Amino acid sequence: MAWITYVSADGTRTRVDVPDGSNLMLGAVHNNVPGIDGECGGCLSCATCHVYLDAEWAGRLAPADQMELEMLEAVAAERRPTSRLGCQIVIDASMDEMPVHLPELQT
Ligand code: FES
Repeated sequence: MAWITYVSADGTRTRVDVPDGSNLMLGAVHNNVPGIDGECGGCLSCATCHVYLDAEWAGRLAPADQMELEMLEAVAAERRPTSRLGCQIVIDASMDEMPVHLPELQT
């Protein structure tokens, strides 16, 4: 498990315990964190789980694969160098205390 801090666009911080094997999208949805929709349930077809990682953390995680990169072209908010889709980031203990920033909009 990992403690993840979701930081909303307005600066609101919500710290959540997310189990190993879950992902950043589910961690938010299951804990009623506003700002991630996850409309497709994590099957990589909606791009409503857009998040921004800190550069330090982005470099530690496995990079986005080709399918995620293609879906990132469909995000509603500004795409940044550290943009990722939360459903594609599977939680493990190495992510403990990772902050995750949420965009202003998902659709
Ligand atoms: Fe749909 Fe991530 S939840 S692409």
